[in-house]
Amino acid sequence: MVFAAGLLSLALFALPALAAPRGAARSTLASRVAGRRSGPKIPSNGINALTKGSSNVEYSQNWAGASFESAKNTYKAVTGSFVVPTPSAPKGGSGSYAASAWVGIDGDTCETGILQTGVDFTVDNGKVSYDGDTINVTVVAASTTSGTATITNESTGVTVSKSLKSSAKLCFENAEWIVEDFEEGDSLVKFADFGSVTFTNAVATLQSGGTTGPTGAVLIDIEQSNKVLTSTSTTSDSVTVSYT
Ligand SMILES: *[C@@H]1O[C@H](CO)[C@@H](O)[C@H](O)[C@H]1NC(C)=O
Ligand SMILES: *[C@@H]1O[C@H](CO)[C@@H](O)[C@H](O)[C@H]1NC(C)=O
Repeated sequence: MVFAAGLLSLALFALPALAAPRGAARSTLASRVAGRRSGPKIPSNGINALTKGSSNVEYSQNWAGASFESAKNTYKAVTGSFVVPTPSAPKGGSGSYAASAWVGIDGDTCETGILQTGVDFTVDNGKVSYDGDTINVTVVAASTTSGTATITNESTGVTVSKSLKSSAKLCFENAEWIVEDFEEGDSLVKFADFGSVTFTNAVATLQSGGTTGPTGAVLIDIEQSNKVLTSTSTTSDSVTVSYT
């Protein structure tokens, strides 16, 4: 299931098998985009795999950010705005590196479905896909198998909105603001040094009608090869993920 729309595309996709290309579709990046796939949270298998402790931080191989892990049927929409960062190769690295930032429902403790939308950022031997624009990303679920994803480029006011359908079922138990090391082929892409991403005006809408900011969400950081690569913090209306 592919939902590409200009520079931005949107995805509601089945887990774990279905590929869902999403992101910058400039021609030079076409081959990268063709095989890219966003995925559910993969737990860390490194030294921090089992720690959570008082800081309420969980470690993952591919997700960093804040995620509510709540009862079924809690959430129905998630939104946030962020400035697309300028990615670079980590110290000593060369070649192609990438990451994406998105908001979503499920894909964490709910492993059957995910409704998400966001933006990929890539650096390829010093050439950056795009950066610096403020983007508002919003997902709204309509049923367990359908929803709407909207991206507004606040620098231009251009909005892209897509109705999405999937046979994969949402549980409405996670609401999240995430920077992801997404997959290409069968492995994670080399994770870019993205500096930091701050989701502002971060709000999740509850099925009961109220809203919540990220306070109290589980914090997730990326650990790969026993190295913690991110540091996440929240305020009542923002989530900041920094590359460390
Ligand atoms: C982002 O877009 C959503 C949906 O269109 C809207 O409700 C929200 O207010 C927007 N946020 C900002 C900060 O403009
Ligand atoms: C936002 O709009 C600007 C100005 O047209 C454009 O250069 C940029 O690529 C857009 N950003 C995204 C993420 O689509």
